[in-house]
Amino acid sequence: MDPAYALARTRDEYDRLARQALFLRGLTERLLRAASLARGMRVLDFGSGSGDVALLAAELVGPEGEVVGVDVDGDALHVARGRAEALGLGNVRFVEGDERSAELGEGFDAAVGRLVLMYRADPADTLRRIVDRVRLGGLIVFQELDLDPAVASRSLPETSLWNETGRTVIETFRRAGTQVRMGRQLFGAFLAAGLPPPIMRDEAVTGGGPAFGGYTWLAEVARALAPLTVKLGVAEALDVDTLAERIRADAVAREAVVWTPSFVGAFAVKP
Ligand SMILES: C[S@@+](CC[C@H](N)C(=O)[O-])C[C@H]1O[C@@H](n2cnc3c(N)ncnc32)[C@H](O)[C@@H]1O
Repeated sequence: MDPAYALARTRDEYDRLARQALFLRGLTERLLRAASLARGMRVLDFGSGSGDVALLAAELVGPEGEVVGVDVDGDALHVARGRAEALGLGNVRFVEGDERSAELGEGFDAAVGRLVLMYRADPADTLRRIVDRVRLGGLIVFQELDLDPAVASRSLPETSLWNETGRTVIETFRRAGTQVRMGRQLFGAFLAAGLPPPIMRDEAVTGGGPAFGGYTWLAEVARALAPLTVKLGVAEALDVDTLAERIRADAVAREAVVWTPSFVGAFAVKP
């Protein structure tokens, strides 16, 4: 297992990933469609977790296509299989292992992945092995966070609990050894993996007011990381139970507009 994996492997975390996936679904669907992921394709989803990208891809490729999801975390895949079954999707299966596992097969029409290379010690090397599984002329599509610590503010006005929480999250990921600039590093990783310069997309989720969904998303990321935040000395004990409501109340009181870090997408065709 990769030492840089900062998150827990628990039912709570799998549920959080599924809620996060709802928040991110539009971003990822737009990227997969822009990359021309289409009906009938055989797709490899790398780092499936509880299955959201694989389930989305399974919808896009339809019953005549197939999705194989892979993850090192067998418990997460158990959740993913249950979700596929509940949705009646017969065109998706999950394999426990990593990019080296023989059971994955090869000759895929596309390989996709979201929020996974950022946890690899050597993302370019991992990507190269994934590209090996894709046929010539096949698609490679990844979406990763760009958590640039140099960006001082993701809120207007700048003083806000949203900003403070965001900085804590980024610093925790950084100290945990996560590739915090993975979003932009996708460009170099694609080149190092023998791919042409990828087409790139940069999207953030932005909003304000009492109904914005981002407060809960950020608070849940902070909550998932909280033990590490304290252990790595980024902050003292956090009151994570009330965090979402405090971020919301603070943003509403300041009439702030807030935005997430960039979710950077990259896609290319294997030459
Ligand atoms: C933050 S989760 C993202 C899950 C999913 N892609 C999504 O967006 O909802 C990252 C996942 O990558 C998996 N992972 C990390 N390194 C891996 C590797 N070498 N092979 C397969 N899975 C890996 C982790 O176990 C975890 O489930």
